[in-house]
Amino acid sequence: MTNTSLPQQRSVWGRRQSRPLKENQRQALADLWPWVSLALPEQSMINLPDLFPLPMEDLWVEIGFGGGEHLATQAALHPTVGFVGCEPFVNGVASLMVRIQEQSLRNIRILKDDARLLLARLPDQSIGRIFVLFPDPWPKKRHHKRRMIQHATVDTFARILKPGGFLHMATDDAAYAVWMQDIMAQHREFKLDLGERTSITERPLDWPLTRYEQKGIAQGRAPVYLAYRK
Ligand SMILES: C[S@@+](CC[C@H](N)C(=O)[O-])C[C@H]1O[C@@H](n2cnc3c(N)ncnc32)[C@H](O)[C@@H]1O
Repeated sequence: MTNTSLPQQRSVWGRRQSRPLKENQRQALADLWPWVSLALPEQSMINLPDLFPLPMEDLWVEIGFGGGEHLATQAALHPTVGFVGCEPFVNGVASLMVRIQEQSLRNIRILKDDARLLLARLPDQSIGRIFVLFPDPWPKKRHHKRRMIQHATVDTFARILKPGGFLHMATDDAAYAVWMQDIMAQHREFKLDLGERTSITERPLDWPLTRYEQKGIAQGRAPVYLAYRK
């Protein structure tokens, strides 16, 4: 399938690298990158059966995985599911590489770039779950357009999710929590579905506490954990 309108331009505003990589991170990157990295086709959709050597039962996507704590945990819990993670921050990608190496995970592919480039190249109704956990809140009004959760992104989520698929979002920024829920309320394809949980402040039990989340809680912020079913 060819689509000349696929976006080629990235929109990444945060930092791409901070401290130099540790030796074990550099080594894990060198060893694993050739088979873990995802190269995007320029003008077509990703051919999903080519991603993994064996057929996968489902495909889940995590956007902005940070240090990869959640992605690696889910990949270990669900070895028959393929995972595509997207993160432009090199130190985060290197941390995930170490986790992949230590846990011998074979079901993760990574794009080290803007998630929107990935989303645009995923076929319709191909994804079982999407995770957007603690995306940068961009609190200043003039920066709101940089937020990952926008009507256009949610339209793309609706396009790529299978019927019954889930969108999971979390934030510890009270204003962003309201923003996310306002946007989702306007997308009729999605319905809030917390499963066994009775409130959006209750943590999903199978999520590890990420360093980012831990820091926020220590600073007195109260996260919300949203789940919408298509
Ligand atoms: C606040 S951190 C949260 C990290 C992680 N999800 C967690 O909970 O620990 C937000 C992450 O989103 C990533 N990010 C920012 N812009 C992005 C983009 N356009 N595409 C994908 N990831 C992005 C950042 O590099 C950062 O790692």
